[in-house]
Amino acid sequence: MVSAKTEELPDVNTAREFYSKYEPKEILGRGVSSCVRRCVEKKTSKDFAVKIIDLTDGNNQISEELRLVTRNEINILKEVSGHAHIIELVDVFETSTFIFLIFELLKRGELFDYLTEVVKFSERQTRSTMRSLLEAISYLHSQNIIHRDLKPENILLDDDLQLHLSDFGFSTKIEKGQHFTELYGTPGYMSPEMLQCTVDENHRGYGKEIDMWACGVIMYTLLAGAPPFWHRRQMIMLRRIMEGQYSFPSPDWDDISTSARDLVSRMMEVDPTKRLTAKMALAHPFFQQVEDTSRYSSKPFNPRRKFRVAVYTIVAYRRIMAQMHQHRPLKLAVAARDPYSVKALRRIIDASAFRVYGHWIKKAANQNRATLFENSSRADQRKLEELEEFAAGMHDDGLLMSLVPSSGNSFIAQPVS
Ligand SMILES: Nc1ncnc2c1ncn2[C@@H]1O[C@H](COP(=O)(O)OP(=O)(O)O)[C@@H](O)[C@H]1O
Ligand SMILES: [Mg+2]
Repeated sequence: MVSAKTEELPDVNTAREFYSKYEPKEILGRGVSSCVRRCVEKKTSKDFAVKIIDLTDGNNQISEELRLVTRNEINILKEVSGHAHIIELVDVFETSTFIFLIFELLKRGELFDYLTEVVKFSERQTRSTMRSLLEAISYLHSQNIIHRDLKPENILLDDDLQLHLSDFGFSTKIEKGQHFTELYGTPGYMSPEMLQCTVDENHRGYGKEIDMWACGVIMYTLLAGAPPFWHRRQMIMLRRIMEGQYSFPSPDWDDISTSARDLVSRMMEVDPTKRLTAKMALAHPFFQQVEDTSRYSSKPFNPRRKFRVAVYTIVAYRRIMAQMHQHRPLKLAVAARDPYSVKALRRIIDASAFRVYGHWIKKAANQNRATLFENSSRADQRKLEELEEFAAGMHDDGLLMSLVPSSGNSFIAQPVS
């Protein structure tokens, strides 16, 4: 749970350096001991994201452990900086009670929220997302870093929906042959061998392979729109993970290619020594497939996709119709004859009347406010209506006529050239 305390902005005196360069804005996300806000760089007016980590606990005691953990996160972020699919740390400020991490702002937010919006990904989208994610993991592993908290909430998207891996709070350096036994991450994405460490004290521990397990869970979730191991009772879910008990149920998986399923199952391989590495996964046939960009390619029938297209079509139609009603073409003749009937002019007229009279003009039962602004007398108005009818009749007979203002407040019908 997040305490309300983490959402409070640090006071200006304790973080002068940060406030002199940046102005904090609305909250973008929250963590256990951090709050992420949009912030604006005062000098350039450019947007960034600031992760504000409160080092004090409920009793106002400073946690030196959290300070060390955050410094580790910063060191790793600096080491991996510059990769196209890893978030860019821009600046850091540290005070006795807070640490501020300034990041590039990723406006489209979490992959998790995007997935919730679209329900599930096509194979093409999954291919592009997983390729970027595996490239980032392959790079991390080549630098002897494991992430340990891979999940769609920690994958952020930019304006072009390009992926940027973030949240290196649980990341660690790992030496060749080194193994860890501590439990880190988020239950649904934890690997069987990490969970085994909690029940078997003689377990040799886990290594880089845990990230690849999480990649398998992510790819499964993208394609199916649902996670592979979820159960409302967490203990049952964890047991299923340890036993690798998952399936590709119908109808969600009916349309999904065998190469996609094969890649998922090779990443979600219970034995870490048999699991694909990031490099091996990138060489899998799933990524060798050439996209069929032909407009006439026949995709397998997908009722959800068809229904979505139908819904979008209706929404688009309604928007176009609404636009047409809002912005009817303004005819000069109408504007000159009866300006109060034109919505845009009515507003100007009312505003002007308000300025002249200092209050709204009362509209009695038989009193029409429009008459205050008519350009012609009632008699002229009737004559004009007759003329309009006449012009309309002429138009029906094939002669184009329009009403144009003549001298005074009268109008004449004139053929249109
Ligand atoms: N650079 C960013 N741009 C946009 N949103 C961000 C950015 N960094 C973090 N967030 C939002 O804040 C949330 C928490 O950030 P994260 O680094 O994951 O912190 P924690 O370690 O507390 O989980 C993210 O899940 C995301 O919604
Ligand atoms: Mg996070």
